[in-house]
Amino acid sequence: MGRLTLENINQHVVKAEYAVRGELAVKSEEYRAKIRKGGDTGLPFDTVVSANIGNPQQLDQKPITFFRQVLSLLENPNLLEHEDVLINSLGYKSDVVARAKWLLSNVGNVGAYSASAGVPAIKESVAKFLERRDGFAADPAHIYLSGGASSGVNTLLHVLCASPDTGILIPIPQYPLYTASLALLDATCVPYYLDEAASWGTSLETIKESYEKATSNGTDVRAIVIINPGNPTGASLPESDIRSVLEYAAEKKLVVMADEVYQTNVFVGKFTSFRQVLLTLQKENPGGKYDDVELASLHSISKGMVGECGHRGGYFDLVGFSKEVEEQIYKFVSITLCAPVIGQCIVEMMVNPPKEGEPSYELYSKEYNGILEGLKVRATALYEAFKEMEGVECGEPQGSMYLFPTITLSDKAKQAAEKDGRKPDEFYCMRMLEATGVCVVPGAGFGQKEGTLHFRTTFLAPGTDWVGRITKFHKDFMNEFR
Ligand SMILES: Cc1ncc(COP(=O)(O)O)c(C=O)c1O
Repeated sequence: MGRLTLENINQHVVKAEYAVRGELAVKSEEYRAKIRKGGDTGLPFDTVVSANIGNPQQLDQKPITFFRQVLSLLENPNLLEHEDVLINSLGYKSDVVARAKWLLSNVGNVGAYSASAGVPAIKESVAKFLERRDGFAADPAHIYLSGGASSGVNTLLHVLCASPDTGILIPIPQYPLYTASLALLDATCVPYYLDEAASWGTSLETIKESYEKATSNGTDVRAIVIINPGNPTGASLPESDIRSVLEYAAEKKLVVMADEVYQTNVFVGKFTSFRQVLLTLQKENPGGKYDDVELASLHSISKGMVGECGHRGGYFDLVGFSKEVEEQIYKFVSITLCAPVIGQCIVEMMVNPPKEGEPSYELYSKEYNGILEGLKVRATALYEAFKEMEGVECGEPQGSMYLFPTITLSDKAKQAAEKDGRKPDEFYCMRMLEATGVCVVPGAGFGQKEGTLHFRTTFLAPGTDWVGRITKFHKDFMNEFR
């Protein structure tokens, strides 16, 4: 027997839960391996559909050509010695070559570490993007390039969480990175429930109640996380809600963490950034209560039409943090050396894509709009299918990459789940995987109101065959447990 056991390792790791890559996902990969081996698998399906995770390029999303052409030159700068071949034979446009040269001149070599907080010229590009997006200048000194938004969240929560009494307000349902990270840090999750009846809106009243309850129990509630647009809900916060959250944050001195990784995945409503609203409030109230609000906003190359999640890139931007605290954030970031440099380069292209009139623009915008349209079409097809399913209720797709329907299961199904040692929605999702090869995530993995059941599915997978598989499974399941 080795030195390490489940009992003597870090119990915070043992306690942390991350359902999007949990038991169902592991089982689905076993099925996939079995199918890959060929022969008689004994399975009632011949493909596995990973609808459990927002991983666009694992499914159908093609990488944007401009990004990949530039990357090919960054990885192999020798190709730049043959510009004529690139342009005349391989169809690279002159702006691809120009961008690769510009990046190389600023990055040096993509195989080398960069500065801890990221390549300075890329941080400047991000600052210009923030200024264009929000109408307020940004300072690159407060921008930190990260290995995906996850690593930014990890950094910020490490710095924020000082003891088990530290409380962080987390929306429920949520992307489980947050609850898992708080479990790892042995800090306290202070849940606030989103309002399903109001299209998963964020209610200030609910936030206040959760805050009051936690503080009266001795928790030092010091930050609020907002996922906007939401995962798994897809909901975008209207500006009025962002204003009230910021007003409350100013009153209670709450650090605001705005996870805005789905900012371009919006079908209904419009994305408004927390940064824009905070800086507007500061302008409207000079020398007022908003000047001290600490806001961290996060973005990523993983989602949207970029979908380059395997390259691990993102950034976070800080407003209102003290110099001393920011130095500690910088130190924390520097301990992991730097974000992947290729990921940083994709961040640069995401925030500074080809512009109208530039040679790559036409193809870029065709690809970008094609992806957005495709997502909308698939989301709607899935939504229409859910509408037809007995005991399934789902709001209209609003954004992000997911639908999060409610399911109503019979007592007989719940009893069968109990016998199986599972929560009812876990049981349902496991049965779905076993019958269809479609892997979704039970609502329990994101948090849900007591007594309600959900599952989350991405709408990234192409075609309608897999939707048909779910519909048939559901009918059979309902009949079996009637
Ligand atoms: C709300 C939210 N935040 C952060 C992330 C992490 O993304 P990244 O790949 O940038 O680490 C995800 C991934 O699904 C997400 O849904």
